[in-house]
Amino acid sequence: MGQGVLLRYRQYLPVTERTPLISMGEGETPLVRSSHLEGELGCGELYFKLEGCNPTGSFKDRGMVVAVAKALEEGSRAIMCASTGNTSASAAAYGARTGLDTVVLVPQGDVAQGKLAQAIAYGARIIAVRGTFDRALVLARELTARHDITLVNSVNPYRIQGQKTAAFEVVDVLGDAPDYLCIPVGNAGNITAYWMGFCEYFENGHAGRRPRMMGFQAEGAAPIVRGEVVKAPSTVASAIRIGNPASWQGAIRARDESGGIILAVSDEEILQAYTALARREGIFCEPASAASVAGLIKLASQGEPLKGKRVVCVITGTGLKDPELAARRLQQPFQESSGDLEEVEKLLGLEYVGKPT
Ligand code: F0G
Repeated sequence: MGQGVLLRYRQYLPVTERTPLISMGEGETPLVRSSHLEGELGCGELYFKLEGCNPTGSFKDRGMVVAVAKALEEGSRAIMCASTGNTSASAAAYGARTGLDTVVLVPQGDVAQGKLAQAIAYGARIIAVRGTFDRALVLARELTARHDITLVNSVNPYRIQGQKTAAFEVVDVLGDAPDYLCIPVGNAGNITAYWMGFCEYFENGHAGRRPRMMGFQAEGAAPIVRGEVVKAPSTVASAIRIGNPASWQGAIRARDESGGIILAVSDEEILQAYTALARREGIFCEPASAASVAGLIKLASQGEPLKGKRVVCVITGTGLKDPELAARRLQQPFQESSGDLEEVEKLLGLEYVGKPT
């Protein structure tokens, strides 16, 4: 337990004798069975892969640990990424741990507070770019091509290699691939990575089949669904506010080779799934993560035959990343108390059982 993805899956990863097997205990995240939605949606079995349980609270750590290990192996001194927040948190953490200088380019005013707090805490250099994530990624590509800095966005192939281990874990736990894998799509690295993982496990006999890959973009940031770049992407799910995904082709391949789909879900559908996950399943995730469940709910409502099917929804990041949204969306009025026991009993409608002793 807690050995990290490099050690656990080294035979499937680009690990050489010179690769430092660094780890912060990434991976081995829980695959939790649904308590309510499974029955309501009529799925055979529904599971949530809780990637928010990774060291920095999102799935990014799986790929970052591999990218940073390879950067160290290659003698790099500095890393850089563009990010809607989670990649920057992860890069900053692994950079701090291994003594690499870390620079993160984030779209100004567009990153959830918890993620910014992480980059600040880990001591990364933060450049707030006036513009979208897509612009920040163009800058990061240019800067790393011109200078001796390693790019650790998912265009770095080691990131995808590390992230594919989540698919391995799903198969390792379930004994085979599920029928459906539901996943949010932003820059499209993760859907590409899961598909790679499922294909590799299928090819070497660890799995008897491969899942249908069901990707979900936010309606206002759905370039793959629409088939064209979105210049001014907009959605409440800031992590997937992306108009020109780097792994666009990888997502199309995952969809087409698996017989899957990539669909758009509205912000309202995302927020309903976000609330339902918290209130009915006890799973507090960030809004982008809820897109996978919003998509599944949408498929069920459109009559997708889910009966008897095994479904896994990837919950990509923890809800603590975006406390402001939680306060806005999930807030309930507080009741105030002076600290008096009987007063609190009264507020809660509890029966009077006599004076406190
Ligand atoms: N969910 C969360 C919580 C994310 O942070 C991201 C991407 C995605 C889903 C989508 O994954 O990009 O591989 O399709 N976040 C990136 C970032 C873009 O900068 O943190 P994807």
